[in-house]
Amino acid sequence: MKKNSRNIILALVVGTVLGVLVFASTAYGQDVVSLRGQAALDAQSVPSEITKSQTEVPPMKRVYVQQPPLIPHSIDGYKIDLRNNKCLICHSWANAKMSGATKISATHFKDRDGVELADVSPRRYFCTQCHVSQENVQPLVQNEFMPVKSLRK
Ligand code: HEC
Ligand code: HEC
Repeated sequence: MKKNSRNIILALVVGTVLGVLVFASTAYGQDVVSLRGQAALDAQSVPSEITKSQTEVPPMKRVYVQQPPLIPHSIDGYKIDLRNNKCLICHSWANAKMSGATKISATHFKDRDGVELADVSPRRYFCTQCHVSQENVQPLVQNEFMPVKSLRK
């Protein structure tokens, strides 16, 4: 008898926790709208607006130490493929002095095992995989991230 009532209480507790979790996840899901908007999967969505790079504002501060810095200039038409990498024409160590661009950091020469290479590591070759132009857009999801005090600038 005692064991039975303990089982019932346990079932109630587990049920309540699961219910709260399911409710929280669906409520969260409804808040987040993707760039496609709320259109059904098989329906045409309104194309998202193409915004202009913000070149007239100073480079935006990095929010955390390991953040890839945003690009403070337009990159329209900059090609990155097997033979050309427009970004390196200004950002490589050889050309940075002449172009006035920031040199790519030493981390960009390391392969995934931390071995230093003589040139940009293949995993850092496609710059726009990590670096994006700074644009005046609203975040899809708000967040309140703050770096730890000792790392704030
Ligand atoms: C014609 C030369 C030129 C080309 C090509 C170029 N950049 Fe730049 N880039 C600059 C200069 C100059 C700055 C510094 C601007 C400033 O600080 O206001 C800069 C700044 C940046 C920064 C900010 C660095 C920092 O320390 O905050 C990033 C990131 C960047 N560029 C990425 C790229 C990427 C990615 C590409 C290719 C898609 C590219 N750039 C192509 C000249 C260039
Ligand atoms: C896999 C992601 C990734 C790729 C790909 C990548 N970067 Fe970066 N980049 C970062 C991160 C993260 C940082 C900041 C931390 C650091 O310096 O490693 C950074 C820093 C930089 C900086 C600032 C350096 C400094 O001293 O402040 C420049 C300029 C830059 N990258 C340019 C480039 C260019 C040009 C390419 C393409 C050839 C490129 N990056 C490819 C992630 C990436």
